[in-house]
Amino acid sequence: MAESSGRAGGARRIFSGIQPTGSKHLGNYFGAIRQYVAAQEEGEAIFCIVDLHALTVPYDPLRLRSSLYDLAALLLAAGLEPQRCILFRQSDVPEHSELTWLLACLTELGRLQRMHQFRDKSLTQRELVSAGLLLYPVLQAADVLAYRAEVVPVGEDQREHLELMRDVARRFNARFAGGRQALVVPEHRIPAVGARIMDLQEPTRKMTTTGGSEEGTIYLLDCESAIAKKVRRAVTDSGHEITRAPDKPGVSNLIEILAAARSCSSEEIEAQMASARGYGELKEAVAAALCELLEPIRERYGPLRSDEDALEEILAQGAAKARAIASETLADVRALMGVGAPKRRPSGDPATVAQ
Ligand code: TYM
Repeated sequence: MAESSGRAGGARRIFSGIQPTGSKHLGNYFGAIRQYVAAQEEGEAIFCIVDLHALTVPYDPLRLRSSLYDLAALLLAAGLEPQRCILFRQSDVPEHSELTWLLACLTELGRLQRMHQFRDKSLTQRELVSAGLLLYPVLQAADVLAYRAEVVPVGEDQREHLELMRDVARRFNARFAGGRQALVVPEHRIPAVGARIMDLQEPTRKMTTTGGSEEGTIYLLDCESAIAKKVRRAVTDSGHEITRAPDKPGVSNLIEILAAARSCSSEEIEAQMASARGYGELKEAVAAALCELLEPIRERYGPLRSDEDALEEILAQGAAKARAIASETLADVRALMGVGAPKRRPSGDPATVAQ
């Protein structure tokens, strides 16, 4: 359970972020986007397209803009509704950048250098390894902590980032707020099924937007024939039993995908497939389930993507609502850290300076 925010009304605040890079895939959907849609039923749901995070690796400015619209349209097509959630662009709310700096001054350098994502990317990236890449997790912490969110729906690969953000919030509270929860220590929410979807061609590697194989990645906008082809060609393992096992990563991944698509457990899929004639039948079931799941998203996407003005309007309204929340947190953080002019009560009486 998340520690209480003390917010009036008791509604849970749920926050997550997603990068506007590359085409979004099945892993993003099962690990994250589907949870975002469900979160709208549950509490105050806030979703951020993190364009500033996208600057931490080599990128093309024009492509970034259009990828941002692609993602905004995709999230709406998948079921986010601007009347029921706040959807906004990170760079429209400057409080994220300011809080990043303030929190960076509380974060241990060695910890950032040891983060898996930094280690992997700094080793493989041929071009500039920027300080931005090192600070990526601090910006992510700022994203969430600026909203005092209690719950953060993410895939399995974000666990380490969530741990860092929790530690930063605790350190802030201990150092500046006498242990009071001035910043909420958030909980991650990782789904039971679909938290780590693997590449269909290399099932020991997770499905990714960058660096994975085109053939092993099912994009959310893939047409039916592309989905069927990729699933048919998915790498399987020796044997013919449809069960999960450490030495059967390909079949285990297909079982997990089918379970996620049918919203049931992997055990249930194993039971349903017990009398199947072989991997071919499993693959047919996976392809059919994915086509059914993704078709409505693909259909809604086109008209949404073609109206960039409407997308801008939705993002601008989202940013105004987001900023109203984040600026309150920032005012408290600045005051507690002793930064900027002191907060005064309306009378302006210096004796009433608030801490
Ligand atoms: P990003 O854009 O890389 O991924 C978005 C979400 O998709 C999940 N995901 C997966 N889930 C299951 N299987 C996979 N193969 C798979 N690949 C990706 C990710 O776990 C993520 O939830 N650092 C974040 C962006 C971020 C953020 C935040 C997240 C920025 N600020 C604040 C939460 C809160 C990221 O890389 O997302």
